[in-house]
Amino acid sequence: METNYYYEQQLSEAAQALKNGQLIAFPTETVYGLGANALLPEAVAQVFSVKDRPQDNPLIVHVSSFEQVKSYVDNFHPLTEKIVKNFWPGPLTLIFKIKKGGLPAIVTGGLSTAAFRMPDNKKTLQVIKLAKVPIVGPSANTSGKPSPTTAEHVYHDLQGKITGIIDDGATRIGVESTVIDLSDPMSEPMILRPGAVTKEQLEAAIGGKVTIDQHLIQSSETPKSPGMKYRHYSPDTTVMMVYEEDWQEAIKWAKDNQLRVGVIAGPKIAESVRFDVAAVYMYFDDSVKAATQGLFAGLRSLDEKMLGLDLIFVEVFSEEGLGNAYMNRLRKSAGQKYFEK
Ligand code: TXA
Ligand code: MG
Repeated sequence: METNYYYEQQLSEAAQALKNGQLIAFPTETVYGLGANALLPEAVAQVFSVKDRPQDNPLIVHVSSFEQVKSYVDNFHPLTEKIVKNFWPGPLTLIFKIKKGGLPAIVTGGLSTAAFRMPDNKKTLQVIKLAKVPIVGPSANTSGKPSPTTAEHVYHDLQGKITGIIDDGATRIGVESTVIDLSDPMSEPMILRPGAVTKEQLEAAIGGKVTIDQHLIQSSETPKSPGMKYRHYSPDTTVMMVYEEDWQEAIKWAKDNQLRVGVIAGPKIAESVRFDVAAVYMYFDDSVKAATQGLFAGLRSLDEKMLGLDLIFVEVFSEEGLGNAYMNRLRKSAGQKYFEK
């Protein structure tokens, strides 16, 4: 199969192909998604097989309006309206209890709940509208690899396996949406996956408390969000996190051990070490926002075989606000490994 790029003028063609059961990757503000018609079980099955994704890991259903969600859910959490008004379209996925038989079991992994999101991307919203069906969309990467933040990343992983890619340049946020559980109308909303919408922003919007799934803090507990248990965001090259005060030591240790090292960091760190390492991927600036936007692209670029790196060192940020989302992804890429003196 040849994988085509779809441009602005071909969005209705892309929508038609999706509706008919073909797989098309689409841009969002977070990462690129691998789209298929959520109402066609055979098309959804294809999504699992081309990504090599475990079948018990349910998918997010992408919609172009909140109205569309009402076809599948009748018992909403009382805070739903406030949350949707404040954050949709945007990087926030909502879990609701669904009507029986409303969505194919393959979409939900057989659960009685489903995840919904209205992405903030004009082209994608238009395609969902034109297709007139909800679109499932896991990140458009091979399972286990860093999520794609450009159309080229998608092409790299899925060329020849999907019908097309809607190209809209690099994604603005760079990590996947925040996932919150609203499936029990009697419970406080619970964050199952940190993303660009933070706990603080959610609490300010609803004027109440939001909890965080304990396993995000204590890694031993069983996650509520099935996807969180799998190996994730892992390049083939070993990744290590480096605290700000440890960089000189880390570079010296790598040199003493004759290791070929790559560095992913903001300009402040990147410029101070760049003559001592084999490769550098520099974030746009020293903010956590720039780091979050660039993390997956950096991991993919330094994982290129031809660089022949033994090790990738990555800058650490403090775990507050957006730093929670950045560190959640980075810890997984690094398999929790820090450089230790
Ligand atoms: O930003 C994003 O969310 C991207 C873009 C493409 O929209 N999509 C994405 O999808 O990250 P995916 O499939 O890679 O992650 C979906 C996450 C997984 O951790 C999955 O386990 C969880 O959502 N999830 C889906 N349905 C669920 C449910 N009913 N209950 C709990 N967690 C659920
Ligand atoms: Mg994913």
